[in-house]
Amino acid sequence: MKPSPPFAEALRAIAVPRENAEALLRKLLSERLVDRTMKTEKRDDEVLIPVRAAPAFDLGPFRAWIEDRPSLPIRVTQRDPRQEIRERLRAAGIPVERAPRRWERIGDVLVLRFPPGEPREAPTIAKIFGTVLRARTVVQDVSGIHGPLRVPDVRLLWGNGTETVHVEGGIRYALDVARVMFSSGNLAERIGIADRVRPGAVVVDLFAGIGYFSLPIAVRSRAETVYACELNPMSFRYLVENIRLNRTTNLVPLLGDCRHVAPPRVADWVIMGHFDSREYLDVAFQTLRGNGTIVYHELCPKEQYPDALTRRLATAARAHWMDVRAIHTRIVKSYAPGIVHSRAEVEVTRQSRP
Ligand SMILES: C[S@@+](CC[C@H](N)C(=O)[O-])C[C@H]1O[C@@H](n2cnc3c(N)ncnc32)[C@H](O)[C@@H]1O
Repeated sequence: MKPSPPFAEALRAIAVPRENAEALLRKLLSERLVDRTMKTEKRDDEVLIPVRAAPAFDLGPFRAWIEDRPSLPIRVTQRDPRQEIRERLRAAGIPVERAPRRWERIGDVLVLRFPPGEPREAPTIAKIFGTVLRARTVVQDVSGIHGPLRVPDVRLLWGNGTETVHVEGGIRYALDVARVMFSSGNLAERIGIADRVRPGAVVVDLFAGIGYFSLPIAVRSRAETVYACELNPMSFRYLVENIRLNRTTNLVPLLGDCRHVAPPRVADWVIMGHFDSREYLDVAFQTLRGNGTIVYHELCPKEQYPDALTRRLATAARAHWMDVRAIHTRIVKSYAPGIVHSRAEVEVTRQSRP
């Protein structure tokens, strides 16, 4: 049940018959007389409009009259958290430009990136962000994500515990923000793939992480099986935990290098969510059972996009006696100066033997 709003005595309000309420409200608003800290209230056939002062115009044509100290519900206004953060920073004597302008929220953990020359007040800034944004923990993203296992470099600034559960698109992802990466933001892509996978299809995710792609596919599509390969034991631990959390029954986690653990000749879809995907194209084609779709990511020099990408995929397909039937490429985002994170969805078909 919705909690009833708190009431207080307004200084004064104007009571007006319902049929005249809209016209009077418009007039009062234009004269900036409406008290916005209180809500208007219906009472039988009348409406009570809280006002900051008695109007100078005649209320007679509206058949309205002034009531002193009526009891009206208080309007609970949501303050802009950015404004509140700025005020608290100023109160703590911290110049606003030393604090990050944005934040990332993963479950109840906030991730902050500081402008170059991280300030000594970082812990105080973190406390202000954490308190205003009602987080449990605030960490600093020190230098991004590293190595083939995509391990983050974060520092705890405020609060305790970096383990959390992030909910996105109805999927629950348990993870430790300090130990495994989470790439928020490509929700549309994850859900989009899940919605294109046909009932009964088999999917192999070669770089599953904690289940970024595998979980939405397993939960939302009616795939027969989603095999999820993951090399990093820490990410694998959360992948297994997330299968349990989401009560998924068609997701099979496989610990190890996808070159060794991906099942051959089973897949209708292969997901390659790793920047080094190009080194694993052979694995992807060996995993397909026939015609199928490969979702491919890579870092690509901007001036080579999309030609290098399409050429690479066509060459790999031919090496496995397949043809590219359709390819859709797009730039996910700019990764570094001159380098783009690009993505391709490629439909491949078996070449007909003469
Ligand atoms: C970039 S993360 C997953 C990102 C995710 N697809 C996304 O878009 O957010 C890639 C994962 O692949 C794993 N990985 C790297 N090399 C692997 C390999 N040879 N076999 C299986 N998993 C691998 C890493 O440990 C990491 O968890």
